Amino acid sequence: MSIQPVGNASGRVIMGQKNIWIGTNWKMNRGPAEAISAARALSSFRPPKGIRTFVAPPCTSLRDVSSVLQDSPMIVGAQNMFWEDSGAWTGEISASMITECGASMVVLGHSERRQHFGETDWTVNLKLRAALRHSLTPLLCIGDTLNEYEFGVSQETLARQMKIALHGVSQEELARVLIAYEPVWAIGSAGRPAETAFVSKIHTQLRDVVEDIAGRNSAVRIPLLYGGSVSKANICEYVALPDVDGVLIGRAGWDPADFMSLVDSVSALVSSEVHA
Ligand code: 13P
Repeated sequence: MSIQPVGNASGRVIMGQKNIWIGTNWKMNRGPAEAISAARALSSFRPPKGIRTFVAPPCTSLRDVSSVLQDSPMIVGAQNMFWEDSGAWTGEISASMITECGASMVVLGHSERRQHFGETDWTVNLKLRAALRHSLTPLLCIGDTLNEYEFGVSQETLARQMKIALHGVSQEELARVLIAYEPVWAIGSAGRPAETAFVSKIHTQLRDVVEDIAGRNSAVRIPLLYGGSVSKANICEYVALPDVDGVLIGRAGWDPADFMSLVDSVSALVSSEVHA
């Protein structure tokens, strides 16, 4: 399915009108056989109105998952890509290969790639611009390390990551970008979920940086997602925050039944809560 920009004229949000994005990053789990079975379990799911769902399988399962979810509202995304279109880049996949698999989104700059595979702000920028050129929706991940958090420089790190990643991106293209704030210290079984007050503060600051980049009068509202140990216990608290437009889930969303139940658990918020 195609993805429309999310926004309203005021730039501020009425919860009942904003789209909530809920996605799961399968990371390096599920080869084609397991992925097909999980995708089948998700294929008949219809998220409540106002909620957009997505899944990011490993690239070897991308084509199968996209084909199973072809007629479903579930958006399919890759977890990474290279910025060149083709050539002698052993081990890499290009944006056009992702679209040819039937996917329409790509996760870029995940902290696991920055930490373990030498991803930098500069390479994330090249990838993001290549994704946009190929009409993919980039989901840009940014995140502070525990050290940065403890030294109180999270905001500086996140603003830098965001500004470099979005450098050279036009206003029109910005309307197609999603951003996920995933504190490195909150991700995985060794992580701890970020406190909602902290997420709220960071997202409000990120909204400001985005507005600086997009232009203060822009009607575009770039979706800002939170990720890192999101679970049934905390998903509603995050989604209820005025500057949080959704969540990027790892472990808690890998089981299709759990994922659908997490999405459903947010539905009451989307229809009932109103923020000025
Ligand atoms: P967890 O939800 O397992 O902490 O992972 C978050 C994540 O990295 C999603 O991209």
